Amino acid sequence: MIGNSPSIRRIKDLINQVVDTDLNVLICGESGVGKELVARTLHHLSYRREHPLVKVNCAALPSELLESELFGYERGAFTGAIQPKPGKFELADKGTILLDEIGDMPVALQAKLLQVLQDSEFVRVGGVRNVHVNTWVISVTNHNLDEDVSTGRFREDFYYRINIIKIVVPPLRVRKEDISYLLEHFIRKYKGMSKGGVIDIPSKLEKVFAEYHWPGNVRELENYVRRLIVLEDADLLEEEILKSKGQQMPEDRSVAEIWMPDESLIKSVIDNCRHEMQIQFPSLKEIRKKSLARIEKVVIEEAIRRTKGNRKQAAQLLQISYKALLYKIKDFGVEVPDRDSSDGSLELKLPKELELF
Ligand SMILES: Nc1ncnc2c1ncn2[C@@H]1O[C@H](COP(=O)(O)OP(=O)(O)OP(=O)(O)O)[C@@H](O)[C@H]1O
Ligand SMILES: [Mg+2]
Repeated sequence: MIGNSPSIRRIKDLINQVVDTDLNVLICGESGVGKELVARTLHHLSYRREHPLVKVNCAALPSELLESELFGYERGAFTGAIQPKPGKFELADKGTILLDEIGDMPVALQAKLLQVLQDSEFVRVGGVRNVHVNTWVISVTNHNLDEDVSTGRFREDFYYRINIIKIVVPPLRVRKEDISYLLEHFIRKYKGMSKGGVIDIPSKLEKVFAEYHWPGNVRELENYVRRLIVLEDADLLEEEILKSKGQQMPEDRSVAEIWMPDESLIKSVIDNCRHEMQIQFPSLKEIRKKSLARIEKVVIEEAIRRTKGNRKQAAQLLQISYKALLYKIKDFGVEVPDRDSSDGSLELKLPKELELF
């Protein structure tokens, strides 16, 4: 893994800490940041490296096919099942299974997988025999699973099971010091594709790279290097990047002032919980849900205040979907003042079922 920014150094430390623990790891981050590379690094540094690393794309298949892909099937389990077939979990025995795009796994299958993670055994589709496996589970997603849990798209119990260690790979725009190392690495990797065998990135282009917001992250940078080596079209590339810079995200959190709820809020949350504890001893789950909801409510109110009641912009600021924000506004009873029209932006037309809020 190339990079020397504080966040990449922290990730490398974390990798070294968890590498032989067998604890389930969840890797999150935007598209192209290097999540799969982190997963592969974990496997190759672990004591499981001589055994297979088996990747399953949970978004690519409908629920039933994904189930037989993961757990295999017995002969006659369904039409066309002429021969029994082991699933990916069996193939990954003693090794690692990489559950890619786990955020897209159907909810019904999450329940089944939860059981497998608890017992380390399962039954093939159409089978009766328990199959026992010893597999390290690494899950990968570019979804915000906290949000998916709160809207019911992802099972909370499953989330806590796969998320024992969480590694968040930050976008390239917040760790621009890594760009020069990555450029050097990719030039070395692809220089064989160049007619002359060497390649120089013009300093003008390096400056453009440093100011760019990298929506496609490291993959985008890698593709640019490949293209430059083959086409040697630095001027054209520079022009294209400058054009797409105009579409930069309106609220870049990396440079925006970071607002945090103050300590008195945390204290009032605790006071509230203490009050409730006098009535009935709370479960941890209940406490987590209630305290989180209270803090989220204050943060949402602040976002609504800052955007002068513009819920679309507030959702962008909070980095959640517009629909999720509407859901939370209703759920937490957040008051939204009448819009101040001075910002001139347009409010989204609400879907019919949400018009009430
Ligand atoms: N730190 C890094 N050092 C070297 N190469 C990197 C690094 N980060 C990413 N890459 C390269 O960038 C490309 C994209 O990385 P990867 O496939 O791991 O991203 P991803 O987060 O899984 O993306 P997606 O969400 O689109 O699946 C790969 O070719 C990978 O090798
Ligand atoms: Mg990936």
